[in-house]
Amino acid sequence: MKRKSIFVMLAIILVFALSACSSKNSSSDGEKSKGKKEKLEIFSWWTGAGEEDGLKALLALFKEKHADISVENAAVAGGAGTNAKAVLASRMQGDDPPSTFQVHGGAELNEGWVAAGKMEPINDVYEKEGWSDKFPQSLIDMVSKDGNIYSVPVNIHRGNVLWYNKKVFEDNGLEVPKTFDEFFAVADKLQEKGITPLALGDKEPWTATQIFENVLVAKLGVDGYNKLWTGELAFDDPKVKESAEIFKKMMGYINKDHSSRNWQDASQLVADGDAAMNIMGDWAKGYFVNDLKLTLNEDFGYTTTPDSSGIFTVITDTFGLPKGVGNAEDVKTFLGVLGSVEGQDAFNPLKGSIPARVDADTSKYDDYGKSTIEDFKTAELAPSLAHGSAAAEGFLTKANQAVNIFVTQLDVDSLLNSLKTAQAELK
Ligand code: BGC
Repeated sequence: MKRKSIFVMLAIILVFALSACSSKNSSSDGEKSKGKKEKLEIFSWWTGAGEEDGLKALLALFKEKHADISVENAAVAGGAGTNAKAVLASRMQGDDPPSTFQVHGGAELNEGWVAAGKMEPINDVYEKEGWSDKFPQSLIDMVSKDGNIYSVPVNIHRGNVLWYNKKVFEDNGLEVPKTFDEFFAVADKLQEKGITPLALGDKEPWTATQIFENVLVAKLGVDGYNKLWTGELAFDDPKVKESAEIFKKMMGYINKDHSSRNWQDASQLVADGDAAMNIMGDWAKGYFVNDLKLTLNEDFGYTTTPDSSGIFTVITDTFGLPKGVGNAEDVKTFLGVLGSVEGQDAFNPLKGSIPARVDADTSKYDDYGKSTIEDFKTAELAPSLAHGSAAAEGFLTKANQAVNIFVTQLDVDSLLNSLKTAQAELK
């Protein structure tokens, strides 16, 4: 008898112990029932070098303004969301969304989470904050579907930028290339001198896809490029083939260890003068300046990728309100700060991007930022494929795989065949 009651006691203690250290969800349910607030979980892939400074500044500003809302920075490492997007997908499928998450305007948001019925419209936030004329219409369109708005852009990144090491160009008496012909002429001279012309880090394959998209948009023009995502232009079109040939030629000038480097490691080659140029979004500027302490226009310079002046490959990071979160009002409060002039001007000068708002304080931006703000107003805008804006995630995954194989095999027909097969799924 005595022994039995000891067992019962132990079992009761065990049940209590287990429930005390149970999952995050049930403990937050407990908190909710006691009237405690759920944490505001902010999900992104901004961790580490070149990525997290802007986010930290934004979170600090939010804390200053709303100390009563406790925030959890739930960032998952990996450039362009390589890992974060997979974690997010499984959480969304399991009906365990973060309070708010980083999502690119365009297909990734609209054809992805909105079409799947996973997002709440936030037109009320825009109305309350008086934002109807504070963001360019082109961006509002990228975060809207069927007349509703689903997220708030925190920034605009430019994807068609060529960064270069100034000393390498000066020491070798080279002009910065504006066209593909100039690019290949410069690349040959650099190679003769034993300098890697173009840095690539395609450990995460999107970096090579980003180079290819910039060739495509330069050769097809924005209209032709956009027709690829509607299926009006096929991937075996002669101009696409020509673009793939150019891309192939470019791959003849990259560093040998490209597949073991990420985008920061590849940018580092340019910073150190081991490579002359790289093609990367302007988060690379955030990395050069904030992490490597380089000076813009002294240590490194920038221009548009070959034959793409007048074009702006757009990437916009946005945040919205997933369906089913318990703290929707706190999320809206956060979106209010993220979309404010103050929020955007705390985030973007560190991130390398320009503000999404039209009325931001341009004095807070460096020469690159100022000129990019001007370019955005006049350039033709092209949504980035590599960053999820041009085509749905399913296509992008296949494009990244095809490009990744291409970089080692350099088989143009096989690349175009894979893309053509994937394109059939776009409609
Ligand atoms: C995001 C940027 C980020 C970059 C590298 C892009 O998809 O839009 O904010 O800096 O990936 O991770």
